[in-house]
Amino acid sequence: MIPQVLHQGLPQGLVTATYLVAAVLFVFSLGGLSKPGTARRGNLLGMLGMALAIIAVTLSGDVHRYGHVLAAMLIGGVIGAFVALRIVMTAMPQLVAILHSFVGLAAVLVGINGHLQGNSLAGAGLVIHEVELLLGVFIGAITFSGSVIAFGKLQGLITSRPLLLPLRHGGNLLAALACVGLGALYLDSQPLWVLLTIIAIALLFGMHLVAAIGGADMPVVVSMLNSYSGWAAAATGFLLGNDLLIVTGALVGSSGAILSYIMCRAMNRSFLSVILGGFGSATGTGTVNVEGGTVRSLTAPEAAELLDAAGDVIIVPGYGMAVAHAQGRLQQLSEELRKGSTNVRFAIHPVAGRMPGHMNVLLAEAKVPYDIVFEMDEINEDFANADVVLVIGANDIVNPSALEEPNSPIAGMPVLKVWDAARVLVLKRSMGTGYAGVDNPLFYKENTRMLFGDADEMLKSILEHL
Ligand code: TAP
Repeated sequence: MIPQVLHQGLPQGLVTATYLVAAVLFVFSLGGLSKPGTARRGNLLGMLGMALAIIAVTLSGDVHRYGHVLAAMLIGGVIGAFVALRIVMTAMPQLVAILHSFVGLAAVLVGINGHLQGNSLAGAGLVIHEVELLLGVFIGAITFSGSVIAFGKLQGLITSRPLLLPLRHGGNLLAALACVGLGALYLDSQPLWVLLTIIAIALLFGMHLVAAIGGADMPVVVSMLNSYSGWAAAATGFLLGNDLLIVTGALVGSSGAILSYIMCRAMNRSFLSVILGGFGSATGTGTVNVEGGTVRSLTAPEAAELLDAAGDVIIVPGYGMAVAHAQGRLQQLSEELRKGSTNVRFAIHPVAGRMPGHMNVLLAEAKVPYDIVFEMDEINEDFANADVVLVIGANDIVNPSALEEPNSPIAGMPVLKVWDAARVLVLKRSMGTGYAGVDNPLFYKENTRMLFGDADEMLKSILEHL
C-alpha cells in the first residue's frame, strides 16, 4: 500500500480535501493569533495545517525524488529548530525578517526554474504563465533583498538611519518602468537575460526601498515585507499550479497588508508612502531641543515610597523591559500594589519593543491579567488622572518631541502622553537614546524622576522596599 502511494501518489480528491482542511486551519490560526489569550492555540492550528500541507504535497504524486525532499526537510528542519531554540525574544524581528527573505529567494528560484524547464503552452495560456513567472520573480527579488537589508538594520549590522539618495523617488520610478518595459520584452520572446535583468533591478529596488526607511519606522517595513513574502508565495503557487500555496500566500499577503495598515495608523504614516519607501525620513537629526534641562534622579527606596503612596499607577513597558527580562518582576510589583488597593494599569504602545504585540506577549507570559492591559487609544487620555506613571525601559514611545518638534525624526508618531501624570518615574540605565536615536525631553521635565539601573535589578530593589 505504502509503496503504491509513494509511486502513484494519493488520489487527487484526497489531496484536494487535505489542502482544504489545511487552508481552513490557516484561517483559524490567523483568527487565534489576533488575541494574546488564543495565540498559542492559533500557533498550534497553523503548525497542524502546515504539517498536513507538507504531507499532502509530498504524497500528491508530483514528487518523485523522495530522498532529495527528505534530506532537504531534515537539514532545513534541524537548522530551523537550532535557530529557534537559541533565539532570544528581543532578536525575533530580525529572525522574522530573514525568514521573509527565504520566501522571496524561493520565489525567485522557482521562477528561474520555471523558465529553464520551458513549457508547451501557447496563446493566452502562455501569456498568463509568463506573467505569473514575472510577478513571482519581481516580488520575490524585492522581498529577498529588502528583507536582508531589514535584517541588517534590526541586527545593528548597518545603520538604522535612512539612506536618502538624491532623486531617489525618480530612481524608484525608473526602476519600476524599466521592469515593466523588460517584462513586455520577455512576454514577446522570453530571453533569459531579460528575466535575469529584471531580477537584478528588483534586487536593487528592494534594497533601496528599505534602506531609505528610518529606524523608528522599521516595524511597518517588517510587516510590509511579511505581506510581500505572501504575495511572492501566491505568485509561485500560480506558477506551480498549487492551489494551497496560492491560498496560503494570499492569506499571508493580505493579513500582512492589514497589519501594515494598522501599524501605519499607529505610526501616523501614509500607507502609500510605505509601499513607495523612503518615508519616516524627516530631515531631523535626532537632536531635539533639551538644552538647559535639569535631570532629577531618585533611588529605589524613594521610588518604592512614591509608588506606595499612589492611588492610581500606570505602567508603560518598552524594549528595555524585554532586554532585562523584567516582566516577571513587573507582574510581582503590580500584584503587590494591587494588594494595597492601588489601581494599576498597563499602557501598551503599538510599536513598543521590536515587534507587533511584543509587550502583550511578554506580559501574558508573566501572567499579567488581560483586563488591566490597555492599548494606547484606550488609555492615552487617562494619564492626566494618574498619580504615578512608571516608564520601564521605554523611550521613543514616550517622547514628547514626536508631538512638539516638527523636525524630530519621529515627528507625527503618536506617543503615550505620560508627562500629563502628576509624577513620571523613568526606569532605564542611562540618558541614552532609544531605537530611533532621538533625545527625549521627557527626562528633563519638572515632574519626571529618573531611576537609573537595569530594569529587573531596580524592580527587585523597589519590591524589597515596598
Ligand atoms: P526604545 O525607544 O528602543 O528604548 C528602549 C530603552 O530601553 C532604551 O532607551 C534603553 O535605555 C532602555 N534599556 C535597554 N536595556 C535596558 C535594561 N536592561 N534595563 C532598563 N532599561 C533598558 O524602545 P521603545 O520605547 O519600546 O520604542 C520602540 C522603538 O523600536 C520605536 O522606535 C519603534 O519604532 C522601534 N521598533 C519597533 C518595532 C515594533 S513592531 N514594535 C520593530 C522595530 C523597531 P538605556 O540604554 O539608557 O538603558
